[in-house]
Amino acid sequence: MHLVLGIESSCDETAAAVIEDGTKIRSNVISSQITIHKPYGGVVPELASREHLAKIDYVVEEALSKAEVTLNHIDGIAVTYGPGLVGSLLVGIGYAKSLAYALNKPLVGINHLEGHIYSVVFENPPIQYPALALVVSGGHTSLFLMPEEEKYKVIARTRDDAAGEAFDKIAKLVGLGYPGGPIIDKLAKQGDPHAVKFAIPRMGDGRMDFSFSGLKTAVLRYVKQNNIGPLKPGEEPTKEVIDLAASFQRTVVATLIDRLGAAATEHNPRTVILSGGVACNSELRAAAKELCEKLQIPFYVPRPILTTDNAAMIAAAGYPKLLRGERANMSLSADVSIKLQNVDVEDAALAGHVRYRL
Ligand code: KG4
Ligand code: ZN
Repeated sequence: MHLVLGIESSCDETAAAVIEDGTKIRSNVISSQITIHKPYGGVVPELASREHLAKIDYVVEEALSKAEVTLNHIDGIAVTYGPGLVGSLLVGIGYAKSLAYALNKPLVGINHLEGHIYSVVFENPPIQYPALALVVSGGHTSLFLMPEEEKYKVIARTRDDAAGEAFDKIAKLVGLGYPGGPIIDKLAKQGDPHAVKFAIPRMGDGRMDFSFSGLKTAVLRYVKQNNIGPLKPGEEPTKEVIDLAASFQRTVVATLIDRLGAAATEHNPRTVILSGGVACNSELRAAAKELCEKLQIPFYVPRPILTTDNAAMIAAAGYPKLLRGERANMSLSADVSIKLQNVDVEDAALAGHVRYRL
């Protein structure tokens, strides 16, 4: 297994990549649909699948040509099969299956979240286990404990909105545009993060889970009470909006770091991984790095282009599976709500096992 072709189409990016020996990127092509969904302030599933269909051929061709290979050189194919939008996923899956069938190449289906975790393998030393991985994106906010390679136990997940979704909704609310994450990130640098005090949400039952809908409601209430925005198209953000963006971002980052710190202290991981679209956030990256330095745990975060959806991470996640001989057959289909968990949730022995290994 030398060259793996990865294909990703779970949401609004059509992506293909060729990677070499699991950790070297030969090509990484991403066709973003942002301009198509922008007028609607969010991803429109029907438009997304149609656009994937129109682009997938070109994207795969470009990935092959940038890698200076042909399909015959490819040793295996990895494709995202969930979670995501069903129509979007099916485009990538159908395409990958037909390639695998026509060329008689091995195929594996990849969980998108596992892909995000593997986005750190290109620029860092090998992951040391146990590892802790915080995956924060537009659709997910989950903290995984990985006792060993390809073993996942969810130790916290969001009970409502994902962190990225909260960024997008708040940006929409005050008229900042779409997607909200990068816009708020940039604006927050000029604002006062302590201008508005928002509480860090905690679970009444003492669990580590995240919740961002309460924060969203608190922002909404603040906006109404203070008659803020929404900004008109093209209007420069006011100081109030900039301070609100900084205060909101500070609260989201503080929430994520609070749980990451608690989990790292409890489980003593050998590597902490931060990935997913929101891992692009400059304040979050800096805060997670600082936390890990304090705890003296190696911290891995991908460079910005690898934080958002891409196919290099899917190919990387597929590499060990293909190497082991794992194969998907022609019945591979989309699983829109598949979970990433293969270690028993209630397995109390696991915690002991993890501590014992350290
Ligand atoms: O991983 P991703 O590309 O797609 C999903 O799997 O969801 O993540 C997209 C999400 C969007 O919600 C976007 O607003 C957020 O990542 N995002 C950011 C930043 N860049 C992208 N959020 C905060 N700060 C950023 N710099
Ligand atoms: Zn993603």
